[in-house]
Amino acid sequence: MIKVAPSILSADFLALKGDVDKAIQAGADYLHYDVMDGMFVPNISFGQGILKTVAAYSAIPVDAHLMIERPERFVEEFAAAGARIITVHAEATRHLQRVLSLIRSLGCLAGVALNPATPIEAVRYVLGDFDLVLAMTVNPGFGGQKLIPQVLDKVRDLRKMLEENGLSAMIEVDGGVSSATAPSLVEAGADVLVAGSAFFGAEDPLAFTASLKDLGRG
Ligand code: DX5
Ligand code: ZN
Repeated sequence: MIKVAPSILSADFLALKGDVDKAIQAGADYLHYDVMDGMFVPNISFGQGILKTVAAYSAIPVDAHLMIERPERFVEEFAAAGARIITVHAEATRHLQRVLSLIRSLGCLAGVALNPATPIEAVRYVLGDFDLVLAMTVNPGFGGQKLIPQVLDKVRDLRKMLEENGLSAMIEVDGGVSSATAPSLVEAGADVLVAGSAFFGAEDPLAFTASLKDLGRG
């Protein structure tokens, strides 16, 4: 089953409610919520206050992607604000295992994200501690970038690593996901597709979402 997660970084912030509705009505599985601190990535987005409003309204779970330094400082607040999945970057914390355990202890699904240049070895010794691994398919910080094709090999390697260890964690891909790139990502082993500009720029978001989900049935 392929899941689709529209990134509201590409939404119209003056009409956020309508864009959340758009994602729900299109059949999206998660709302992807990109948090940027201007330190871990060269951009600032939004925080736990807006997430609380969005999560209280949204009928689908919020998938919070924390692109922030030392995410352990904020996971409790994001959990309290209503995030269902909380994903932290392996590069952003000195104590990855501790923060993943903390996320689970708060009743959320724990995710670990890897920048394009980070090897999958970064998660080898925490394999049982997460529910989702996010392979960044662009350098994080901005929507609308082009997918870095080398990451396809990384998705394949991650899939192999999970299979070899009998684990069912989800593999999420984020950045440059479109109708053109999604088939090879799914073929490589991705099961959650984040789409920002492609989703909110689609003429027919329902058809776009359905076509991505169909890739899992092939
Ligand atoms: C990038 C963010 C992405 C971004 C994706 O740093 O993590 O979630 O919104 O945007 P698109 O789909 O436009 O590449
Ligand atoms: Zn993201």
